[in-house]
Amino acid sequence: MSDFKIAPSILSADFARLGEEVDNVLKSGADIVHFDVMDNHYVPNLTIGPLVCDALRKHGVTAEIDVHLMVKPVDRIIPDFAKAGASYITFHPEGSEHVDRTLQMIRELGCKSGLVFNPATPLSCLKYVMDKVDMILLMSVNPGFGGQSFIPATLDKLREARKLIDDSGYDIRLEIDGGVKVDNIREIAEAGADTFVAGSAIFGAKGANDANDYDTVVAAMRAELAKA
Ligand code: DX5
Ligand code: ZN
Repeated sequence: MSDFKIAPSILSADFARLGEEVDNVLKSGADIVHFDVMDNHYVPNLTIGPLVCDALRKHGVTAEIDVHLMVKPVDRIIPDFAKAGASYITFHPEGSEHVDRTLQMIRELGCKSGLVFNPATPLSCLKYVMDKVDMILLMSVNPGFGGQSFIPATLDKLREARKLIDDSGYDIRLEIDGGVKVDNIREIAEAGADTFVAGSAIFGAKGANDANDYDTVVAAMRAELAKA
């Protein structure tokens, strides 16, 4: 598979300089902007909303924005993100009373839809909605914070999700989120992922004089992916 995409999570960016941070990471060769929305209810943290997504679009960001909603209930906020320029909108099944309806709503609003699975959440609810998802996102950490360690059991879950996608025949991306680094990205790709969220590994990368060095880390990830 050669269609690998790197999606830096802006959760670990410098929020005081967010537009510049996003420009720089995209210039380094990243593909997608991963936008983590936390509500201090579904997860114990609070981050950014549609105003910030809209601000990035007005700043001139044209790359896809992958909005990961860690929000419950989720339906009310979805139209706001569609209006704010989201490309993908993904949500956790625990955040919606009617998963099928929420998936349909995202597509009707012109966005690509996706379901997100926590480490302990089985993939079973995908069975009857494979025709309504554009992305399956497996969490390899418990949602809420950047900088946690990759949970190894996710590799088996990736293989299971990859099989579901391949057997379905649908064009569905398989994204992984949490603890992705240069030294494990190849193994994760070999287990079936094609879209790689990385927050602390990218925005925490430092070069000479302690300056940010996104070029080197994104290139190192690509080099590892090329071996998968
Ligand atoms: C966690 C978020 C992730 C987070 C990943 O709830 O969904 O996107 O930013 O951070 P790292 O790559 O540092 O594990
Ligand atoms: Zn995320």
